[in-house]
Amino acid sequence: MKDHYDIAVVHGDGIGPEICLTTLDLLNAALPGAVLTFSEYPAGAEHFLKTGESLPQATYDACKAADAILHGAAGIPGVVGPDGTEVGVDFTLKLRFGLDLYANIRPIRLFDGVTGPLRGKQAEKIDYIVLRENSEGLYAARGAGSLLRSEVAVDTLVQTRHGIERIVRKAFELARLTDGAPSDGIRRVTCCDKANVLRSYAFFRAVFDEVAKDYPDIEAEHVIVDAMTMHMVMRPNHYNVVVTENMFGDILSDLAAATIGGLGLAPSAEVGAQNGLFQPSHGSAPDIAGQGIANPYGMVLSAAAMLDWLAQRHGDARLLRAADQIKQACTQAMQEGCFTPDLGGRLKTTELAQILIDKVKAM
Ligand code: NAD
Ligand code: IPM
Ligand code: MN
Repeated sequence: MKDHYDIAVVHGDGIGPEICLTTLDLLNAALPGAVLTFSEYPAGAEHFLKTGESLPQATYDACKAADAILHGAAGIPGVVGPDGTEVGVDFTLKLRFGLDLYANIRPIRLFDGVTGPLRGKQAEKIDYIVLRENSEGLYAARGAGSLLRSEVAVDTLVQTRHGIERIVRKAFELARLTDGAPSDGIRRVTCCDKANVLRSYAFFRAVFDEVAKDYPDIEAEHVIVDAMTMHMVMRPNHYNVVVTENMFGDILSDLAAATIGGLGLAPSAEVGAQNGLFQPSHGSAPDIAGQGIANPYGMVLSAAAMLDWLAQRHGDARLLRAADQIKQACTQAMQEGCFTPDLGGRLKTTELAQILIDKVKAM
């Protein structure tokens, strides 16, 4: 246990600063007495436009040295580098690769009070994790793709035994900590791949099968990714932990977020052996930026995941308690219908955050 924890904070672009600032207020309310010390650093597309740099070395170094990293969201569509891709996403991607944040844990839970698109259907109970491999797959080609004579572009999908083994193991370990799938209470890990078509996914599946033998207490199954998109809508309550390659995980986690009410509700934790980056699954939402109406729940729940992760690493009960309080405050507020306009509510980001702060202070 440490006296206090250094949190590197990067606000980012668009709604990033809006949701990040309110989350810091909530964290301070849950942990008074400077248990967390926040240091803010620049990065993102806006910063690139001002300085020509999307991720200053000093920001990267501070993030690496911090106890945890908290990020809003970054990116401005059209602000791109020489290869035509966005510079705003450098922060997230360079940290993932540089700090080896190999496990991207994206919990998908339908909260009481949320009128998601599946509410009222038989698939009412939704509570699973999309575990996205975060260090290789198709994203391994970031910054390394090639374009030949403006005729042929190639990005290479990379899957290694080391990378697959550790993410699959993580999936089974996570499943052990849960109560199983909502439909039948069975602890289950679903390997989602495209093993029917591509060699690298057949390899992913083969390594999955090898690792699964070490976890006889947990059901293991395979689903091919195209069918998976249907199952996630038609029978989401069947799932417990879904493990998948980087790009598939990116896409499936946004679809999964839609089934529980939208991206504004979707938290994410990106962890490796040493470092943890906590930011919601969504982006900078340029279509609603500057209006003060961004949904803060996804970011707030990501911050709670940060506290849980720190609490476990350092054996600190104060952090565990604060994480529980924040999660409880969110659960209660949603039950009471406290929402921003994306979920049919009228609250501003700061008004909703204040409700959460009041709830935490009253606990
Ligand atoms: P997005 O996630 O920003 O937005 C998709 C849709 O969801 C929009 O309609 C948006 O209004 C809505 N939405 C997202 N978060 C919301 C919230 N908290 N409250 C209410 N509504 C919310 O995806 P996009 O539009 O495809 O991308 C916009 C930018 O974000 C791009 O520059 C992209 O590269 C970047 N991006 C960054 C991150 C990150 O920094 N972690 C993640 C994803 C996308
Ligand atoms: C996510 C985002 C990122 C991704 C961007 C910001 C690089 O969409 O975290 O899901 O594509 O992985
Ligand atoms: Mn994404």
